[in-house]
Amino acid sequence: MIKKIIKSNKSLFFMALKFKENKLKPREKIEEPLNNYLQTLYKDGVVVIPDFFTEEECKNMIDAYESIDKKYVKYYENDKRIFGIEKISPIHKRLFHDNNDFKKIGEAYLGDDLVLQTTMAAKITTDNNQKFGSGGSWHRDSFSRQFKAIAYLSDVEMSNGPFMYIKGSHTLKNIKKVLFKLRNHKPISSFRYNDDEIKECCKILDSEISYFTAPKGTLILADIRGLHTGMSIEEGHRYAVFNYYIAKSFHQTNNNIEKLANY
Ligand SMILES: [Fe+2]
Repeated sequence: MIKKIIKSNKSLFFMALKFKENKLKPREKIEEPLNNYLQTLYKDGVVVIPDFFTEEECKNMIDAYESIDKKYVKYYENDKRIFGIEKISPIHKRLFHDNNDFKKIGEAYLGDDLVLQTTMAAKITTDNNQKFGSGGSWHRDSFSRQFKAIAYLSDVEMSNGPFMYIKGSHTLKNIKKVLFKLRNHKPISSFRYNDDEIKECCKILDSEISYFTAPKGTLILADIRGLHTGMSIEEGHRYAVFNYYIAKSFHQTNNNIEKLANY
């Protein structure tokens, strides 16, 4: 009942977000170049690290993904996902799941220990019926700060479903602006936004949509409480791998990560 009242009142809803945010205290500086990435993450909500994986590493991860028994694959329209791939693919575990730098940046950013909820590898292919790429329409994964690492294992041009993000939409200050200025967004706690609302959000935040086209091997770190989606894929395919982290204080052991990652 109390939750329902909070979620229907903008001021109370924002106070609750602020209270939750205050529980997290950013940690002291971390070493370079990680600190540089961290500062960009604070400012923009997203940071791109080129050449994180070599061509050979990308190829080896794709080959490992393709050789996995189909019984492990979950099909979401044109998106083939393998959750918990680190348990069945040693190379995904070694190169991606166990990466300590992501964890360091994420822990400094969220100000808490991190729980890696899952490592998920996915291949999306062309489907003319899909308006968006992986994750569906524009959304926030939640109103709590979240952290996700994404690596492109194949080249991603505008036609291959690039990640899209509105820089700056992750900060509490800007969440407040959108909450109070966006007209007719109902319910106010909804994570999903239609195209007209996204145009309005860009005006409110004096920002614009960034399209993350990049060559294979590129790593993207993002606070996915910022507004984001994936562009629909017009041709070819896109191989990518994802780590979904959450602050330990917000982790619920009964989380349905497959549902969460569907955002
Ligand atoms: Fe998402």
